[in-house]
Amino acid sequence: MAIEIHPLTKADISEAVECVQKAFADDPYFRWIFNKRSGFNLQRNAASMAAHFQYGLSCQAPIYIAKATPSALPSDKSPTTDIAGVCWWFPPQPLSEPVSWTVWAQDWILSFRQLLFNIKFGGRGGLNIRRYWQWKQQQERTHRQIWTDPRGYYFCNVIAVNAEMRGMGVGRKLVEAVTQKADLEGMPCYLESSKGFPNLVIYEKLGFELVSEIECVDGKDACKLYCMIRQPKKAD
Ligand SMILES: CC(C)(COP(=O)(O)OP(=O)(O)OC[C@H]1O[C@@H](n2cnc3c(N)ncnc32)[C@H](O)[C@@H]1OP(=O)(O)O)[C@@H](O)C(=O)NCCC(=O)NCCS
Repeated sequence: MAIEIHPLTKADISEAVECVQKAFADDPYFRWIFNKRSGFNLQRNAASMAAHFQYGLSCQAPIYIAKATPSALPSDKSPTTDIAGVCWWFPPQPLSEPVSWTVWAQDWILSFRQLLFNIKFGGRGGLNIRRYWQWKQQQERTHRQIWTDPRGYYFCNVIAVNAEMRGMGVGRKLVEAVTQKADLEGMPCYLESSKGFPNLVIYEKLGFELVSEIECVDGKDACKLYCMIRQPKKAD
């Protein structure tokens, strides 16, 4: 199948944002953290996500897009955008080392941009801040327990494939753009997914193993995140 993988460029950001927004519309974590649907602001969310992609580019994070050539598409389907999928990773951050000056500066720039968006859009577009910090705290606690490799992990922050292109190998190609590099370097990879089915099976096929779960509970609403690690494969 003719699927090409390319590093994300600035020109791809708006399509990448659209791809992620559509793919995560029914994501359990996304629905838990934006729990008041009437307060959800799609434009505010897109602005924030675009700023995050810009942040990733500025930090030289491994971010890839998949493009399908027309012959790769099923005959009865036409793509809504040029991008078939996107996958954003954080590079390994050794546990004992502080983040680089670039990352430190970009963190501040991102925070400042979010502040401007809060003013422009009159808030955070429906993000439940209390839930966000609950998740962050539990995530950090879990990472301290399960990130046992001092060299750090390639961390899959986001992966999304357009619905009409799923099950055709796009996700595998996007993931392998980084796992093959990780294998050569002998580095482990990590991801979290709030969608158990079918994602756990999909990620197991890509070499990940379930190692822990993060359970965020707020009143009657709970959200579970499955934490998976992929150990590097040795060349045959
Ligand atoms: C998860 C996701 C990125 C996977 O991408 P994809 O392009 O559908 O995956 P692929 O077609 O490359 O499949 C990868 C492997 O999983 C298998 N697979 C794909 N869909 C499957 C399903 N529904 N059930 C079981 N196995 C499945 C494939 O057969 C393939 O294995 P193989 O290469 O050994 O045959 C995609 O489904 C998606 O965007 N989902 C919505 C958003 C989301 O949940 N993102 C992840 C949040 S962490």
